[in-house]
Amino acid sequence: MNAIEVEHLRRIYVTTIGVIRRSTKEIVAVDDISFQISQGELFGLLGPNGAGKTTTIKMLTTLLIPTSGTARVLGNDIVRDAKHIRPVIGFIFGGERGLYWRLSAIDNLRYFSSLYHVEPEVSKKRIPYLLELVGLKDRGNEKIEGYSRGMKQRLHIARALLHDPKVLFLDEPTLGLDPVGAREIRQTISDLQAEKKTILLTTHYMFEADALCQRVAVINHGLIVALDSPEGLKKQVKDLSVIELEVFGIPQRVLGQLRSISSVDAVSIENRDQKQLLQIHSPHGSEALSEIMTCLKGLRVGKVAVREPTLEDAYVRLVRDTK
Ligand SMILES: Nc1ncnc2c1ncn2[C@@H]1O[C@H](COP(=O)(O)OP(=O)(O)OP(=O)(O)O)[C@@H](O)[C@H]1O
Ligand SMILES: [Mg+2]
Repeated sequence: MNAIEVEHLRRIYVTTIGVIRRSTKEIVAVDDISFQISQGELFGLLGPNGAGKTTTIKMLTTLLIPTSGTARVLGNDIVRDAKHIRPVIGFIFGGERGLYWRLSAIDNLRYFSSLYHVEPEVSKKRIPYLLELVGLKDRGNEKIEGYSRGMKQRLHIARALLHDPKVLFLDEPTLGLDPVGAREIRQTISDLQAEKKTILLTTHYMFEADALCQRVAVINHGLIVALDSPEGLKKQVKDLSVIELEVFGIPQRVLGQLRSISSVDAVSIENRDQKQLLQIHSPHGSEALSEIMTCLKGLRVGKVAVREPTLEDAYVRLVRDTK
């Protein structure tokens, strides 16, 4: 049996707009998505802001009812059998809400244990185990108002694990964390997978999905536009070359010229201290380079490199092609 089975899931939000002349507006958050996740799999859901990831997770965690379509979690229908699903799943949604700041980590976990009907004898052993798992063993007695964001996020994970769920939904677990904090969370996620938990993860960090997930689905406008292993997705763009150039104060006009080169698919720019990193996608590899250099004539250019596509490059192309 698959841990999660999703068939033609769809969700429309109806909102009212306007103050005086009120009218309703329908937003198709999830259009039509189907996928399966096997037991023990770590599956990534990737997609731009507003693609429908959180809405999908809210339906699978029984917090939202689908407009149409069906889904099962460990064989239970998300609408009919919702009460059988809740005890076997855990979830965290990015953000800091949902913990009591005036209480210590241990007291928070005790409180949530009773809320989840975890037997006191069980939680007595489980709370220290979870604090150790998420690396908070030595800080468990402190009030969490003094916790860093990363520590709170790790406590959220511990909270979601109190009732030892088989399936975990992690919506942007590393959102807003510094690189060290994010790395610690990734380690915790790997440890959970080693414990054979089924995990559905969303993230905007492609290297994170690449490092953790066995398969990823890319969703855009509520539809799945690709579903494969990270390796498989990278293969889909193996014809693509990425040219990286260090530039200094490149004018907007030149960016426009670069984008209009016929063998250039996409141009992005990132600020790096005094300089900028220009990344240019081209299916014709270094062939485009001479035209690019012509555009950049007269500007200061630092290092130039042509590299293999990453998962992020594959993602950028998939999302762009399905706009
Ligand atoms: N409660 C709501 N009422 C109306 N529209 C909503 C509501 N929640 C989400 N939406 C809309 O549904 C669409 C999908 O939103 P969703 O939060 O699922 O996206 P997401 O993929 O999680 O995005 P992000 O990466 O920004 O978290 C968006 O257009 C969003 O504006
Ligand atoms: Mg979201």
